[in-house]
Amino acid sequence: MSAVEDFVHVFEPATRPDAPTLLLLHGTGADEYDLLPLGRALAPGAALLSPRGRVDENGMNRWFRRLREGVFDVEDLIARTAELAGFVEAAVRAYDLDPKRIVVSGFSNGANTGAGLLLLHPGLVAGAVLLAAGAPLQGREPDPVDLSGTRVFLGNGTADPITTVDQGRLLAEQLRGRGASVRREEHPGGHQVPAPVLDRAREWFAGSDF
Ligand code: MLT
Repeated sequence: MSAVEDFVHVFEPATRPDAPTLLLLHGTGADEYDLLPLGRALAPGAALLSPRGRVDENGMNRWFRRLREGVFDVEDLIARTAELAGFVEAAVRAYDLDPKRIVVSGFSNGANTGAGLLLLHPGLVAGAVLLAAGAPLQGREPDPVDLSGTRVFLGNGTADPITTVDQGRLLAEQLRGRGASVRREEHPGGHQVPAPVLDRAREWFAGSDF
């Protein structure tokens, strides 16, 4: 059985009664502290659960291996996503979290991993805010899982050279095709999170009743 110690992580309890939990997944080269400010901005008062990716790519933390930029080791992604799902279940037990009110938020490699959690472990999280995410299984068609009731916000840059906007659109299609409700924001920038996108995500989160 997985344990909460399996991943180095930060846990900040909710500061508002009945608040949801935000699972924060950092981008390549960052760590468990990187997205705490984003989490506080996105969902004020929510509990924050922020692990560190266990893959080491030349000293940079990641969530799964890649063969080169943009080309994923999909078998590794599947295995690592399962480990992360086990960690989330262990954290629910250890921190007494409501398993129906966990929302994943990630950037870049963390957003791709969040997308993997949605498609490979349906029902683990209630929703997602994924910034610069693409379709994580790359050439493979995800299983026809049921994501009805799952609410997702996607932010992608039309000039993003790393996660192309087509990848973001394909992810939206895959999620909608499995019943998820998806809100997409495209911005004219690159591999980043411009302030207006974060504002939209915050409004969307506040209106989503997690
Ligand atoms: C990934 O590897 O998940 C994406 O290419 C983005 C990155 O982390 O560089």
